[in-house]
Amino acid sequence: MQPTLVVASVALFAGTALAGDSVTFHKDVEPILQRNCQSCHRPGQPGPMSLLTYQGTRPWAKAIKAAVTTRKMPPWFADPQFGHFVNDRSLRQTDIDTLAKWADSGAPQGDPADAPAAVKWAADGWEIQPDFIVDGPAFTVPAKPKSNVIEWTYITVPSGIEKDTWITSLEIRPSELAVTHHICVFFKPHEADAQYNTPVWVDRPRDENGLTAAADAGLNGKGLPESVLKGSSGVEGCYVPGQFTQNYALFHAAKLVKGGMDIVFQLHYTPIGREVVDHPRLGFTVAKSPAERTYVTIGTSAKSDAKSFAIPPNNPNWESPPMEAEFLQNVELVSMFPHMHVRGKDMTYQLTYPNGESETLLSVPHYDFNWQMGYDVVKPIKIPKGTRLKVTAHYDNSANNKFNPDPNQTVYYGDMTWEEMMFPFFSVTVEKGTDTKKLIRVLNGRDADGA
Ligand code: HEC
Repeated sequence: MQPTLVVASVALFAGTALAGDSVTFHKDVEPILQRNCQSCHRPGQPGPMSLLTYQGTRPWAKAIKAAVTTRKMPPWFADPQFGHFVNDRSLRQTDIDTLAKWADSGAPQGDPADAPAAVKWAADGWEIQPDFIVDGPAFTVPAKPKSNVIEWTYITVPSGIEKDTWITSLEIRPSELAVTHHICVFFKPHEADAQYNTPVWVDRPRDENGLTAAADAGLNGKGLPESVLKGSSGVEGCYVPGQFTQNYALFHAAKLVKGGMDIVFQLHYTPIGREVVDHPRLGFTVAKSPAERTYVTIGTSAKSDAKSFAIPPNNPNWESPPMEAEFLQNVELVSMFPHMHVRGKDMTYQLTYPNGESETLLSVPHYDFNWQMGYDVVKPIKIPKGTRLKVTAHYDNSANNKFNPDPNQTVYYGDMTWEEMMFPFFSVTVEKGTDTKKLIRVLNGRDADGA
């Protein structure tokens, strides 16, 4: 045999062995966990276990394989066929294969010398560098509430913003991420009798089954409690696990906050077996020079009266009336945020342009109420006026839906989690000076306002 050939085949064999056989924690798995998992799976974060070390990760190897091969983790719900999103968390197939292979081969540690440098996570750092910070309410999350559920709570605080201010980003920082399911903030004009730091639950007359008789009672036409949110034009921003910041500057845009506003925190906590006090803060950056565009978040809704919106008992795939609207101005769409409750199943946003062409912007085929999530597009979608937006959604009111508290009920519209909503939010930017109150005309659904 010729010596050169021997060398070549040895080299080839060595290469295959490396790529094929020895998947180890430090060399192959740890970099994937750093990039995709540790943001949530480390102490103090919402993930139930820490994936910072080999010792911490090793017992979870099988569960990790199951979670990533079924794409349950990382949480990401957009159908990859439609749209490209900046905050896309989905794993590459090669990373899924590596994690599965590691679990299948007995989850070996490998050589610690192969480990990537540990990520330096800011302890409780801001993602933005806020120009000013609003102190949110302190909320005591009980160890174990009676029903094991803490209903959404609304608490108003003063904003301290005295004059009209253009903000370029907004960040919501809960102090206790492990209990914080979501926090959304609303601005509303200050009223003389404003009750600061007083928790408000939505309290409406209910029948013996705990259902509200008239689905719309007490709501302000946007699915929100009139008593606390009067004058508000809708949600301004939300914290959901892994997502703290809304950065309008990304789109060369800013949002106007009127002077003298109060801020309402909408709080949703999950008990974790010990009492915890969360004390969220809200940080803003302020435009140093005039922004080119105005950022507007729009909350819309399907029709919500009891005739239009009533999900029959045991129906596994009820189609809600759609939300349809027409754009009255040229806008650029930058973000979408589907919102339904525990029976929500899927939601799809579609555009039909004036030339008749249509495009699916976002499809969430397996909606999960536990993961409220915004989808921020990579490239703003230019929408000429006259374009129509249609949002469709389905609900699973059957016993197969493991989140369904009672498949034998007709479910009406309402803001409690056992009632339903069909509430597609989206955000657009418009040229400065555009009348943001007249951006859309609702053709089918409840009337909406810009915020
Ligand atoms: C945005 C935050 C977030 C990210 C990113 C994330 N997780 Fe999770 N993970 C959670 C939360 C919260 C839970 C518990 C609730 C649930 O299961 O939905 C969880 C649950 C899990 C579970 C199930 C634990 C059990 O009790 O069986 C596994 C396994 C898991 N994650 C692995 C991963 C892996 C691997 C990655 C990265 C590839 C990852 N997660 C990324 C937040 C996250």
